Amino acid sequence: MDWAEMAPHLVAQAELFTPLYERALAWLAKEVTEPGLIVDLGSGPGVVSGLFAETFPGARVLAVDGSEPLLEQAGERAARLGYADRFGTLAGELPGALDELDYPADLLWAGRSLHHLGDQRAALTTFAQRLAPGGTLAIMEGGLPSRFLPRDIGIGRPGLEARLDALQEEWFAQMRADLPGSVEVTEDWPALLGSAGLKHTRSRSFLLDLPAPASDRARAYVTDSLGRLREVYADILDPEDRAVLDRLLDPADPAGVRRRSDVFVLAAHTVHTAVKPA
Ligand SMILES: C[S@@+](CC[C@H](N)C(=O)[O-])C[C@H]1O[C@@H](n2cnc3c(N)ncnc32)[C@H](O)[C@@H]1O
Repeated sequence: MDWAEMAPHLVAQAELFTPLYERALAWLAKEVTEPGLIVDLGSGPGVVSGLFAETFPGARVLAVDGSEPLLEQAGERAARLGYADRFGTLAGELPGALDELDYPADLLWAGRSLHHLGDQRAALTTFAQRLAPGGTLAIMEGGLPSRFLPRDIGIGRPGLEARLDALQEEWFAQMRADLPGSVEVTEDWPALLGSAGLKHTRSRSFLLDLPAPASDRARAYVTDSLGRLREVYADILDPEDRAVLDRLLDPADPAGVRRRSDVFVLAAHTVHTAVKPA
Protein backbone atom coordinates (compact mmCIF):
# COMPACT_ATOMS: atom_id res chain seq x y z
CA MET A 1 0.00 0.00 0.00
CA ASP A 2 1.33 3.45 -0.89
CA TRP A 3 0.35 5.31 2.27
CA ALA A 4 1.94 8.61 1.28
CA GLU A 5 -0.17 8.66 -1.89
CA MET A 6 -3.26 8.26 0.32
CA ALA A 7 -2.46 11.40 2.35
CA PRO A 8 -5.24 13.61 0.95
CA HIS A 9 -7.81 10.85 1.54
CA LEU A 10 -6.55 10.17 5.09
CA VAL A 11 -6.65 13.87 5.97
CA ALA A 12 -10.10 14.43 4.46
CA GLN A 13 -11.46 11.33 6.17
CA ALA A 14 -10.06 12.16 9.62
CA GLU A 15 -11.25 15.78 9.34
CA LEU A 16 -14.76 14.71 8.33
CA PHE A 17 -14.79 12.15 11.15
CA THR A 18 -13.59 14.69 13.74
CA PRO A 19 -16.95 14.79 15.62
CA LEU A 20 -16.71 10.99 16.06
CA TYR A 21 -13.10 11.22 17.26
CA GLU A 22 -13.95 14.05 19.65
CA ARG A 23 -16.61 11.90 21.32
CA ALA A 24 -14.24 8.91 21.46
CA LEU A 25 -11.48 11.05 23.01
CA ALA A 26 -13.89 12.59 25.52
CA TRP A 27 -14.83 9.04 26.56
CA LEU A 28 -11.13 8.15 26.91
CA ALA A 29 -10.47 11.33 28.89
CA LYS A 30 -12.96 10.23 31.57
CA GLU A 31 -10.65 7.32 32.47
CA VAL A 32 -7.25 8.62 31.37
CA THR A 33 -6.53 11.69 33.44
CA GLU A 34 -3.49 13.88 32.86
CA PRO A 35 -1.38 11.57 30.69
CA GLY A 36 2.23 12.73 30.32
CA LEU A 37 3.04 10.91 27.07
CA ILE A 38 0.51 9.88 24.42
CA VAL A 39 1.71 7.82 21.47
CA ASP A 40 -0.35 7.66 18.28
CA LEU A 41 0.57 4.33 16.64
CA GLY A 42 0.14 4.44 12.85
CA SER A 43 -0.76 8.12 13.06
CA GLY A 44 -0.72 8.79 9.32
CA PRO A 45 -0.82 12.54 8.63
CA GLY A 46 -1.57 13.31 12.27
CA VAL A 47 -5.11 14.70 12.24
CA VAL A 48 -6.10 12.47 15.16
CA SER A 49 -2.74 13.13 16.91
CA GLY A 50 -3.78 16.79 16.86
CA LEU A 51 -7.12 15.97 18.46
CA PHE A 52 -5.22 14.19 21.25
CA ALA A 53 -3.05 17.30 21.71
CA GLU A 54 -6.23 19.40 21.97
CA THR A 55 -8.05 17.02 24.36
CA PHE A 56 -5.01 16.58 26.62
CA PRO A 57 -3.33 20.01 26.74
CA GLY A 58 -0.81 18.85 29.38
CA ALA A 59 0.44 15.89 27.34
CA ARG A 60 3.29 15.40 24.93
CA VAL A 61 2.09 13.61 21.77
CA LEU A 62 4.33 11.35 19.70
CA ALA A 63 3.14 10.24 16.25
CA VAL A 64 4.66 6.94 15.04
CA ASP A 65 4.27 5.74 11.48
CA GLY A 66 6.10 3.79 8.78
CA SER A 67 5.62 6.63 6.28
CA GLU A 68 8.00 9.58 6.65
CA PRO A 69 6.08 11.82 4.19
CA LEU A 70 2.92 11.36 6.32
CA LEU A 71 4.85 12.21 9.49
CA GLU A 72 6.21 15.36 7.82
CA GLN A 73 2.62 16.39 7.20
CA ALA A 74 1.80 15.62 10.83
CA GLY A 75 4.65 17.90 11.93
CA GLU A 76 3.51 20.70 9.61
CA ARG A 77 -0.01 20.36 10.97
CA ALA A 78 1.28 20.61 14.56
CA ALA A 79 3.17 23.82 13.67
CA ARG A 80 0.14 25.27 11.88
CA LEU A 81 -2.27 24.48 14.73
CA GLY A 82 0.10 25.58 17.50
CA TYR A 83 1.13 22.45 19.44
CA ALA A 84 4.54 21.79 17.84
CA ASP A 85 6.32 22.44 21.15
CA ARG A 86 4.82 19.25 22.64
CA PHE A 87 4.62 17.16 19.48
CA GLY A 88 7.16 14.74 18.03
CA THR A 89 7.36 12.08 15.34
CA LEU A 90 9.07 8.71 15.10
CA ALA A 91 9.44 6.99 11.74
CA GLY A 92 9.67 3.20 11.67
CA GLU A 93 7.89 -0.08 11.25
CA LEU A 94 5.55 -1.06 14.06
CA PRO A 95 5.75 -2.65 16.50
CA GLY A 96 9.60 -2.65 16.46
CA ALA A 97 9.82 1.16 16.19
CA LEU A 98 8.67 1.38 19.81
CA ASP A 99 12.13 0.21 20.92
CA GLU A 100 13.11 3.84 20.28
CA LEU A 101 10.75 5.19 22.93
CA ASP A 102 12.69 6.89 25.73
CA TYR A 103 9.81 6.75 28.21
CA PRO A 104 6.86 4.43 28.73
CA ALA A 105 3.58 5.87 27.47
CA ASP A 106 0.56 6.75 29.56
CA LEU A 107 -1.80 6.38 26.61
CA LEU A 108 -1.19 4.38 23.45
CA TRP A 109 -3.69 4.84 20.60
CA ALA A 110 -3.82 2.69 17.48
CA GLY A 111 -6.60 4.01 15.24
CA ARG A 112 -7.35 1.74 12.28
CA SER A 113 -3.67 0.77 12.14
CA LEU A 114 -3.35 -2.51 14.09
CA HIS A 115 -5.00 -4.51 11.27
CA HIS A 116 -2.15 -3.45 8.96
CA LEU A 117 0.40 -5.31 11.12
CA GLY A 118 1.12 -8.97 10.27
CA ASP A 119 1.03 -10.36 13.82
CA GLN A 120 -1.60 -8.38 15.70
CA ARG A 121 -1.33 -10.44 18.90
CA ALA A 122 2.46 -9.93 19.07
CA ALA A 123 2.02 -6.21 18.30
CA LEU A 124 -0.46 -5.82 21.18
CA THR A 125 2.01 -7.54 23.53
CA THR A 126 4.77 -5.12 22.46
CA PHE A 127 2.42 -2.15 22.82
CA ALA A 128 1.48 -3.30 26.35
CA GLN A 129 5.17 -3.57 27.28
CA ARG A 130 5.67 0.08 26.29
CA LEU A 131 2.92 1.29 28.65
CA ALA A 132 3.63 2.83 32.04
CA PRO A 133 1.97 1.03 34.98
CA GLY A 134 -1.64 2.24 35.04
CA GLY A 135 -1.36 3.32 31.39
CA THR A 136 -4.09 2.69 28.82
CA LEU A 137 -3.94 1.04 25.41
CA ALA A 138 -6.81 2.03 23.09
CA ILE A 139 -7.37 0.52 19.67
CA MET A 140 -9.98 1.51 17.12
CA GLU A 141 -10.92 -1.64 15.22
CA GLY A 142 -14.20 -2.85 13.77
CA GLY A 143 -17.61 -1.27 13.91
CA LEU A 144 -19.99 -1.25 10.98
CA PRO A 145 -19.47 -0.76 7.25
CA SER A 146 -20.15 2.87 6.34
CA ARG A 147 -23.23 3.80 4.34
CA PHE A 148 -23.54 6.69 1.88
CA LEU A 149 -26.74 5.93 -0.03
CA PRO A 150 -30.19 4.41 0.45
CA ARG A 151 -30.62 0.72 -0.37
CA ASP A 152 -32.54 1.57 -3.55
CA ILE A 153 -31.00 4.52 -5.42
CA GLY A 154 -33.26 4.33 -8.47
CA ILE A 155 -30.53 3.05 -10.77
CA GLY A 156 -29.21 -0.51 -10.97
CA ARG A 157 -30.07 -3.34 -8.61
CA PRO A 158 -30.85 -2.30 -4.98
CA GLY A 159 -28.20 -3.21 -2.39
CA LEU A 160 -25.10 -1.90 -4.19
CA GLU A 161 -23.27 -1.02 -0.97
CA ALA A 162 -23.93 -4.43 0.60
CA ARG A 163 -22.36 -6.05 -2.47
CA LEU A 164 -19.40 -3.66 -2.25
CA ASP A 165 -19.02 -4.67 1.42
CA ALA A 166 -18.73 -8.32 0.35
CA LEU A 167 -15.92 -7.39 -2.07
CA GLN A 168 -14.30 -5.34 0.67
CA GLU A 169 -14.27 -8.41 2.96
CA GLU A 170 -12.44 -10.41 0.29
CA TRP A 171 -9.98 -7.58 -0.31
CA PHE A 172 -9.36 -7.21 3.44
CA ALA A 173 -8.69 -10.93 3.92
CA GLN A 174 -6.21 -10.89 1.01
CA MET A 175 -4.57 -7.69 2.30
CA ARG A 176 -4.02 -9.37 5.68
CA ALA A 177 -2.76 -12.61 4.14
CA ASP A 178 -0.21 -10.65 2.06
CA LEU A 179 1.25 -8.71 5.04
CA PRO A 180 4.82 -9.62 6.05
CA GLY A 181 4.68 -12.15 8.91
CA SER A 182 0.92 -12.47 8.59
CA VAL A 183 -0.67 -14.50 11.39
CA GLU A 184 -4.36 -15.41 11.49
CA VAL A 185 -6.10 -14.43 14.69
CA THR A 186 -9.67 -14.40 15.97
CA GLU A 187 -10.57 -10.73 16.21
CA ASP A 188 -11.79 -10.90 19.80
CA TRP A 189 -10.14 -7.60 20.70
CA PRO A 190 -10.94 -7.60 24.45
CA ALA A 191 -9.54 -11.16 24.74
CA LEU A 192 -6.41 -10.17 22.81
CA LEU A 193 -5.89 -7.14 25.05
CA GLY A 194 -6.29 -9.45 28.05
CA SER A 195 -3.74 -11.93 26.70
CA ALA A 196 -1.29 -9.02 26.32
CA GLY A 197 -1.45 -8.73 30.14
CA LEU A 198 -3.91 -5.81 30.29
CA LYS A 199 -6.99 -5.51 32.50
CA HIS A 200 -10.30 -3.65 32.68
CA THR A 201 -11.17 -3.97 29.00
CA ARG A 202 -13.96 -1.74 27.74
CA SER A 203 -15.46 -1.35 24.28
CA ARG A 204 -17.66 1.39 22.93
CA SER A 205 -18.80 2.36 19.45
CA PHE A 206 -19.02 5.90 18.14
CA LEU A 207 -21.24 7.14 15.37
CA LEU A 208 -20.70 9.64 12.61
CA ASP A 209 -24.14 10.67 11.43
CA LEU A 210 -24.12 13.27 8.65
CA PRO A 211 -27.64 13.07 7.24
CA ALA A 212 -28.76 14.11 3.76
CA PRO A 213 -28.52 16.63 2.25
CA ALA A 214 -24.74 16.13 2.43
CA SER A 215 -22.32 19.05 2.62
CA ASP A 216 -19.82 19.56 -0.21
CA ARG A 217 -17.13 18.14 2.08
CA ALA A 218 -19.15 14.99 2.78
CA ARG A 219 -19.92 14.60 -0.95
CA ALA A 220 -16.22 14.93 -1.78
CA TYR A 221 -15.45 12.18 0.75
CA VAL A 222 -18.17 9.90 -0.64
CA THR A 223 -16.97 10.53 -4.20
CA ASP A 224 -13.39 9.75 -3.20
CA SER A 225 -14.39 6.61 -1.28
CA LEU A 226 -16.59 5.22 -4.08
CA GLY A 227 -13.89 6.16 -6.63
CA ARG A 228 -11.35 4.09 -4.69
CA LEU A 229 -13.70 1.09 -4.60
CA ARG A 230 -14.33 1.48 -8.35
CA GLU A 231 -10.56 1.48 -8.93
CA VAL A 232 -9.61 -1.34 -6.55
CA TYR A 233 -12.44 -3.70 -7.59
CA ALA A 234 -12.38 -2.77 -11.30
CA ASP A 235 -11.81 -6.35 -12.44
CA ILE A 236 -14.16 -8.16 -10.09
CA LEU A 237 -17.13 -5.79 -10.03
CA ASP A 238 -20.39 -7.03 -11.44
CA PRO A 239 -20.67 -5.18 -14.82
CA GLU A 240 -24.05 -3.69 -13.90
CA ASP A 241 -22.68 -2.43 -10.55
CA ARG A 242 -19.63 -1.03 -12.34
CA ALA A 243 -21.90 0.93 -14.69
CA VAL A 244 -23.89 2.25 -11.68
CA LEU A 245 -20.67 3.32 -9.94
CA ASP A 246 -19.59 5.12 -13.11
CA ARG A 247 -22.87 7.05 -13.09
CA LEU A 248 -22.53 7.82 -9.38
CA LEU A 249 -19.02 9.17 -10.00
CA ASP A 250 -19.93 11.22 -13.09
CA PRO A 251 -20.00 14.91 -12.08
CA ALA A 252 -22.39 15.74 -14.94
CA ASP A 253 -24.92 12.99 -14.17
CA PRO A 254 -27.95 14.16 -12.13
CA ALA A 255 -27.88 10.67 -10.51
CA GLY A 256 -24.22 11.20 -9.48
CA VAL A 257 -23.21 11.65 -5.84
CA ARG A 258 -22.21 15.29 -6.41
CA ARG A 259 -25.74 16.19 -7.45
CA ARG A 260 -28.24 13.75 -5.96
CA SER A 261 -30.17 14.76 -2.81
CA ASP A 262 -30.03 11.47 -0.87
CA VAL A 263 -26.28 11.24 -0.15
CA PHE A 264 -25.32 10.91 3.54
CA VAL A 265 -22.47 9.57 5.67
CA LEU A 266 -23.31 7.08 8.42
CA ALA A 267 -20.40 5.29 10.08
CA ALA A 268 -19.73 3.46 13.35
CA HIS A 269 -16.26 2.75 14.72
CA THR A 270 -15.49 0.75 17.86
CA VAL A 271 -12.81 1.65 20.40
CA HIS A 272 -11.46 -1.05 22.76
CA THR A 273 -9.40 -0.03 25.78
CA ALA A 274 -7.48 -1.84 28.51
CA VAL A 275 -5.20 -0.81 31.35
CA LYS A 276 -1.76 -2.03 32.42
CA PRO A 277 -1.88 -3.18 36.04
CA ALA A 278 -0.02 -0.77 38.32
C1 LIG B 1 -5.63 3.52 7.74
S1 LIG B 1 -4.23 4.52 8.12
C2 LIG B 1 -4.78 5.23 9.66
C3 LIG B 1 -4.16 6.59 9.91
C4 LIG B 1 -4.66 7.27 11.19
N1 LIG B 1 -4.46 6.47 12.36
C5 LIG B 1 -6.12 7.65 11.05
O1 LIG B 1 -6.98 7.01 11.70
O2 LIG B 1 -6.41 8.55 10.29
C6 LIG B 1 -3.01 3.35 8.64
C7 LIG B 1 -1.66 3.98 8.99
O3 LIG B 1 -0.82 2.96 9.51
C8 LIG B 1 0.48 3.09 8.97
N2 LIG B 1 1.11 1.77 8.94
C9 LIG B 1 0.66 0.68 8.29
N3 LIG B 1 1.50 -0.36 8.50
C10 LIG B 1 2.48 0.09 9.33
C11 LIG B 1 3.63 -0.52 9.92
N4 LIG B 1 3.94 -1.80 9.72
N5 LIG B 1 4.43 0.25 10.70
C12 LIG B 1 4.14 1.56 10.92
N6 LIG B 1 3.06 2.18 10.39
C13 LIG B 1 2.24 1.45 9.60
C14 LIG B 1 0.28 3.67 7.58
O4 LIG B 1 1.44 4.36 7.12
C15 LIG B 1 -0.92 4.58 7.79
O5 LIG B 1 -0.51 5.89 8.10
